[in-house]
Amino acid sequence: METRPEPMSTPLSSSPDRDQAPVSTPGQSSPARLEPQHLPPQALPAEPTPDHALVWHEGRLFLLDQRYLPARADFLAIDSAAATARAIKDMVVRGAPAIGIAAAYGVVMAARDRFRQDPQAWPDLIQADLDELAASRPTAVNLFWALERMRRCLAELTAGLSAKGRPLVVNPEHAGVYLDKLNVEPEKVVAISGLTDAVSGRLGADPGQVGADPTPVLLAEAMAIHAEDIAANRRMGQLGASLIQGPTAVITHCNAGALATGGFGTALGVIRQAHAEGRITQVYADETRPWLQGTRLTAWELAQDGIPVTLQADGAAASLMAQGGIGWVIVGADRIAANGDVANKIGTYGLAILARHHGIRFMVAAPTSTIDWGIADGSAIPIEERDPGEVLACGGNRLGPAGVSARNPVFDVTPAALVDAIVTERGIVERPTAERMRALLVPVEEKDRLAGNLVSDPSGSTAAMQAIASIG
Ligand code: MRU
Repeated sequence: METRPEPMSTPLSSSPDRDQAPVSTPGQSSPARLEPQHLPPQALPAEPTPDHALVWHEGRLFLLDQRYLPARADFLAIDSAAATARAIKDMVVRGAPAIGIAAAYGVVMAARDRFRQDPQAWPDLIQADLDELAASRPTAVNLFWALERMRRCLAELTAGLSAKGRPLVVNPEHAGVYLDKLNVEPEKVVAISGLTDAVSGRLGADPGQVGADPTPVLLAEAMAIHAEDIAANRRMGQLGASLIQGPTAVITHCNAGALATGGFGTALGVIRQAHAEGRITQVYADETRPWLQGTRLTAWELAQDGIPVTLQADGAAASLMAQGGIGWVIVGADRIAANGDVANKIGTYGLAILARHHGIRFMVAAPTSTIDWGIADGSAIPIEERDPGEVLACGGNRLGPAGVSARNPVFDVTPAALVDAIVTERGIVERPTAERMRALLVPVEEKDRLAGNLVSDPSGSTAAMQAIASIG
């Protein structure tokens, strides 16, 4: 693997009523179902797009190297768990959901290599790989969420059972065993046949032996995590766009686009959808020092989509807001505490304060895999500190005078009180509090039932929503 280079440092829209229902799922209230457009990419494209941040191809993980975008759109081939951990640490792949997905594929390669090394002892040997992946970056909880999910899959494997207690049969003829893992309705089987073929065919069949080569099942789980993330982003796009009355301009910070996820993006997913619906006319992208994710990645993504984007220095947001015309600030998240406090790229907290001061609404778009239910509030979120040299340099050139120190916390925490809406694939939490956040834990069927009440009895809507908010 290559070593890490210096980062290239180089009148408001109408605001919806602040008293509206705290948790809502406009339109369809079920979590996203997998459709063909939710499938992870299966082949290496000649010309990568932002939706090719991660490609599993012929037993290796290809990462679109985000250190060099947009100057160069090159893939870096990763063939081990150690290389995956290094790529996460070095920002080859970044953005909370993308980090989690990369780690999941890292576990697949770890299992393959450890099984080859010792078909009996691999479950013990792989623990070191899981630890190495977990140590790659500290703040994005999606990393730990994905590793935990892979760990559960491993535990089921070593117990000789699949997730639903069926004997594990890894055989192309029985590829249907993956369907339960992919949470797909029977009528969607055709849509995912490419995925199952890839999973079972490419990696070869195991003749139905319990406890044999773990790779195919773990790969199916990693691909499911990848596909579900894309589906969640599409759903968040619809939900988030529904909040924007527009047409208006918006500000975004860092990169919460396809590159930061399995595909489509969180904050940029909302922006893509809202732009397509005519609700967003213009995006102002903060440059996002010191790694310049805004300049290099967000601008690249939006330009490719034909969405008008204007870059600005991070410090320029306040005067822009004062001029008027900005309806929303829309950002992603690296970790959301149980009370709705949000850790995201350094500078997000300042933007939220500015937005509140100027009467501009503040939206966080993040999948539920970004919520850390074990952390009561944002004070417990670990904030990554990176090399001060990243701040002292710009475009690889040292600019700060010799002997001067720099601080480089790369995330900050925005208190829930400054957030107008957290948009997840399971619904929107307006003006988040711990109680309103818990509504996201309501089983989908129960939520559907309550949402059904809502539709059939408009006068009972408040009661239904309160019921949703109070469950958990
Ligand atoms: O340091 P990075 O580039 O990994 O930080 C990324 C962010 O802060 C994103 O806003 C966040 O991960 C959300 S990505 C959908």
